[in-house]
Amino acid sequence: MGDTLTILGIESSCDDTAAAVVRGVPGAARILSSVVYGQAELHADYGGVVPEIAARAHAERVDTCAKEALLQADLALSDMDAIAVTAGPGLIGGVLSGVMCAKGLAAGAGKPLIGVNHLAGHALTPRLTDGIAYPYLMLLVSGGHCQFLLTRGHGDFSRLGGTIDDAPGEAFDKTARLLGLPQPGGPAVQAAAAHGNPTRFRFPRPLLDRPGCDLSFSGLKTALLRARDAIVADKGGLTRQDRADLCAAFQAAVVDVLAEKTARALALYLAEDPPVPVLAVAGGVAANTAIRARLETLAAGHATRFLAPPLALCTDNAAMIAYAGLERFAHGEQDDMTLAARPRWPLDANQPALLGSGKKGAKA
Ligand code: KG4
Ligand code: ZN
Repeated sequence: MGDTLTILGIESSCDDTAAAVVRGVPGAARILSSVVYGQAELHADYGGVVPEIAARAHAERVDTCAKEALLQADLALSDMDAIAVTAGPGLIGGVLSGVMCAKGLAAGAGKPLIGVNHLAGHALTPRLTDGIAYPYLMLLVSGGHCQFLLTRGHGDFSRLGGTIDDAPGEAFDKTARLLGLPQPGGPAVQAAAAHGNPTRFRFPRPLLDRPGCDLSFSGLKTALLRARDAIVADKGGLTRQDRADLCAAFQAAVVDVLAEKTARALALYLAEDPPVPVLAVAGGVAANTAIRARLETLAAGHATRFLAPPLALCTDNAAMIAYAGLERFAHGEQDDMTLAARPRWPLDANQPALLGSGKKGAKA
């Protein structure tokens, strides 16, 4: 076991400005502080994240956020072993703000700089929360991404499949917009679905008829739109029950698609005979209780442990960036002042470029 490391992490790739301090070794680290300055109110009127507004807000707040994280950890910059920062993928203005801030701190304090792939941050979260061993299967489901990652090491990811169009979170958000429910759509759709009849409408289960682990959610959105318009044309509007039934049918379709594709990804992973099989989820959509319950049942049926980190660590945060930086640094990896901000940065270099990284921007 190597030396205990203390890492300051900075995240600014979408609409959360975040900083955190994590201390430990790979597989056994704890969060000393984690500060997130959300921007939801700044984007609320626009129905999505506005990159220019996000970049400006990150630039204004990222240094204060880092200071706050150090303060809450009761540590000084000089106590850090390194500064880790999201260097992509994401909205370039935001990523740049974080990278510039991290470079300034690293140069000023004479500390090593570590660029972190935001997706790696999400994918390594179960190592931070539960110290699980490699290899494990990660399903990353958020407002901008949806992919299965066979995670074999801190820099060793195989993408088994992913969305070919929209991310599920995007579909939840669009569904909420179409039905006049508040944003972010996921929690609103889940709440409405709880009172709905999932069998009143039968929405498609895209790509289930095709082999492999790729997913698609855009057709589902269109089906929902048609069903909504048919009710409005017939009755002049939607009742509360109509909304609930539409949400329930939509959510049931998402759950079915995710469950079937996860079963296929799980089979590929289990074929490698992992010593302690784990299926982990991350990303905002992993908060959905129906999705969690179904995946948990699926994992249990295959003698596989199911892990869903607490919501604050599923959604964007800097603790995951600090931790991913810790793993890199513990393996002797670091960057220098030429570290570039990258709007696109697939985790699996052997895979073709990612499709469907989200219309809201390259959020993960
Ligand atoms: O990971 P996240 O906070 O941001 C990124 O996309 O990186 O995920 C946000 C997404 C939103 O689309 C939101 O509607 C969705 O996660 N979400 C949910 C739930 N809570 C949040 N989707 C379904 N069910 C939920 N309970
Ligand atoms: Zn993310």
